[in-house]
This record gives sequence, C-alpha cells and structure tokens, in this order.
Amino acid sequence: MPIKIGILGLGTVGCGVVQVLQQNALEIQTRSHCEFEIKGILDRDLHSERGVTGDFLLTDQPNEILQDPEIDIIVEVMGGIEPARTFILEALQHGKHVVTANKDLIALHGHELLDAADKAGKELCFEASVGGGIPIIAALKESLAANRITDVIGIINGTTNYILTAMAEQGREYAEVLAEAQKLGYAEANPSADVDGLDAARKLAILASIAFNSRVALKDVFVEGISKITREDLAYAAELGCTIKLLAIAKHQDEEIEVRVHPAILPNDHPLASVNGVFNAIYVVGDAVGETMFYGRGAGSLPTGSAIVSDIMRIARNIQSSSKSPLNCSCYLDLPIKATSDFHTAFYIRLLVKDEPRVLATLAQLFAEANISFASIIQKPRGEHQAEIVLVTHPCREGSLQEALASVKAYSKVHNIHNVIRFENGQ
Ligand code: NAP
Ligand code: HSE
Repeated sequence: MPIKIGILGLGTVGCGVVQVLQQNALEIQTRSHCEFEIKGILDRDLHSERGVTGDFLLTDQPNEILQDPEIDIIVEVMGGIEPARTFILEALQHGKHVVTANKDLIALHGHELLDAADKAGKELCFEASVGGGIPIIAALKESLAANRITDVIGIINGTTNYILTAMAEQGREYAEVLAEAQKLGYAEANPSADVDGLDAARKLAILASIAFNSRVALKDVFVEGISKITREDLAYAAELGCTIKLLAIAKHQDEEIEVRVHPAILPNDHPLASVNGVFNAIYVVGDAVGETMFYGRGAGSLPTGSAIVSDIMRIARNIQSSSKSPLNCSCYLDLPIKATSDFHTAFYIRLLVKDEPRVLATLAQLFAEANISFASIIQKPRGEHQAEIVLVTHPCREGSLQEALASVKAYSKVHNIHNVIRFENGQ
C-alpha cells in the first residue's frame, strides 16, 4: 500500500514538493522501501497554471484533505499563522503525521504543536523551516546528537546576504541593492521581515531550541537588522581584513543561552565570510566533532522541496517500522537566556568628530571610564576641521559599551555616531 500524502498550499514550495516526488520517484521508492502517492492538494486557486500535474484531487475545501482517512502525511506549505496552525492541529487529531516548512509558525507555536504531536503519537517534522534545502535540523537532532553543542552561527537569510554581498563587492548603497533584490524576486515587496532580522530570528529560535535542548522563544532573541549598514562600513570592514554579514548567533556557555541576530564584522578567514549572494550556511561547533559547516540554498522551490521530501521519507520509515514513540520535542532542559547587557563582543564605532587636539584622548578617556580599551583606530579627514574615526574596541560587555556611548553622545566635539557594529570571533 502506498503512503498517501495531502498537501496544503500549491505555491512555490508546494509545487517543489510535487516535482521532487515525481522526478525522483524511483529513487525515493527504492530508498524508503515504499511508494508514495499524492492524494490531494488544498489551494484557494483551482485554475492557475503552475507547471505541475498529477492524478490528485485539487480542492479548496480543507476537510477534503484533513479528514480524508486514507491520507497518512499532511504537508503544510501554505505559510502564515492561521489557519495553518489550526489545520496542523486538526491533522494531528485526525491521526496524520505532519511536515511543515513554516518557520513563522514553528517559532511562535512550536511548543504547542510539538506537544500536540506527542499527544497524538504522530510526528511533526520541519527540516525545511530553516535553511531551505540545507539538512540542518536532522543534523542537530540526529547526526550531532552525541555532542554538547556550544555555538550555532548562521547566515540564514538569503535576501540580506544578497544585499550585503552586492554592497561589499560592488561598493553600492543599501537602498539601491534592496530595490534590485525586490526586482529579482529575492526580497518581498515589504522586505521588513528579512532586512529587519525577524526572519533570521525566527529561524534562530528554532535552531537554538534544538541545538541546546532548551526552549528558545522568538521574544528571547535580540534582533537588529541591516538597514543602517552603509558602503562606508563595508569599506572599513575590508580595511580591517573583514566583511559584514547578518549573523544569527546562538551560544551555550556557563549554563546560559545567548541568542542574537545582528550585522556582524567577521574576519575574512572565518568559514562564514565566504558565504555570498543568496546562499545560506550554518556553522556549528560541538565538543566532540569540533567545527562543522552546512552550506546550500536557503530557499527556492526544489531545494525546499528536497528538505520536505526527506522528512516525508523519515516518517515513512517510522510508519513501516511501526515506531510508536516519535521524538518530537527535544527540549528536556530549561536554560536561562543571557541578558543583552551581558553580551561580550568587540565593537566597531564610526564617528564624525571635530578635528582638534585632545578629541581622541577624550574619547579614549570616556571609554576607559567604562573599562573599555581600543584594539585599533582609523582616522580620515572629512571636510574642514572634521575627521571620521573608526574605533575598534577589545571585547567588552554590551552594558559597558552602552554606558560609554551615552557619554560619547554627550561630548560636544562628537558630531555624529554613524554606526556601531559588533564583531564576531574575538577580534
Ligand atoms: P506561496 O508561494 O505563497 O504558496 C502558498 C500557497 O498556499 C499559495 O498558493 C496560497 O494561495 C495557498 N494558501 C495560503 N493560505 C491558504 C488557505 N487558507 N487555503 C488555501 N490555500 C492557501 O508560499 P511559499 O513560498 O510556497 O511558502 C510556503 C511556506 O514555506 C511558508 O511557510 C514559507 O515561509 C515556507 N518556506 C518557503 C521557502 C521558499 O523558498 N519560498 C523556503 C523555506 C520555507 P494564495 O496565493 O491565494 O494566498
Ligand atoms: N525570505 C527568506 C530569505 C527565504 O530571504 O532567506 C525563505 O526563508
């Protein structure tokens, strides 16, 4: 008997799932020792040409899929919170396993949905919710399960990586590259979730929860987007032997979890520094395995379809082996989240100041009062009697840096603090 699949949403990802199941049917069947059949697909639009065909029911009636007793696995690729959440809960109640690509939903309601799946004795898989086609959820949950994971650092938003790469390589301004990314279809008409860091924060909450076996909620993640990064910042970063990336950083140290998404200055020799364009990568450090990195396409019809079909095959293996104990929620710890003021990084501070004697000395004094010392300084003339200064600090507490910045802002010889950017990896 084939395993029967119902799909909710026939958009970019839904079409990718159908295509992967069809084009690799023989390999998928041989490797999972069973056949798969797409029984039905739900979508609002029953008429548009999407380039996928098959012997399945296409319906706009959710219950024709959710309550079909023959369907074993529901694939939710509609997106959004509601009705996706309710449909997944209903599918579980009707005894179906669920696969979803919906990071917004998993980041916000993962706990509830995983509990419901455990209660129903069914599986809820979400490999495609982070990093598109990159196999990272299974890697953290299974392949690296023998490790204590200390660091998960990702470039997990393709839109922002495309923008920062083009700005760095072509010396172009943020607004111009964003407009180009929208024209090319990488960035949405409303790009806020990507450029403000929220998309990466949702994915980081999911990754950190799995990596550290402790629930990390979206509200726990410190988030700062890329809209203040200028080509000048990228040029200074290059001068320092670095580049700037939007990083999603999760660390487990001293029995605390630190989770933050922000632009970060990264040394050019860091493995993540050469991840360019729309590509994603996740760098993971485990105590036994050491450094690892997972690289690939973070979005797109077929890459995301690849991740979803791998979840379908995993569930099929468990159905065949009559596994009665799905391992859904892996959060058996309850670790505290580190306060923002306790983050410890080096900083880049770019300022416009009066070009006069004692200005640099006073700045050094203001930082020293907050117990912060400089690792390096760049100064360039800017117009009459003005200078642009880039201060690079030694690693310090975020709280101390904010204290120092308040004094610097109040110093009359400082015209403007153009930007403050954290370093990743010591510096
Ligand atoms: P999409 O192209 O907009 O497809 C979603 C489809 O579902 C659309 O056809 C939509 O119809 C339909 N739909 C939505 N709500 C519905 C409802 N209540 N009833 C019936 N049909 C409904 O979206 P997508 O890009 O495939 O993304 C799907 C999910 O995968 C999202 O959660 C997304 O975050 C995730 N994801 C996407 C990618 C990617 O590369 N696109 C990568 C990783 C994860 P309408 O167009 O009429 O709304
Ligand atoms: N908007 C996301 C990105 C793609 O730019 O990476 C889907 O997760």
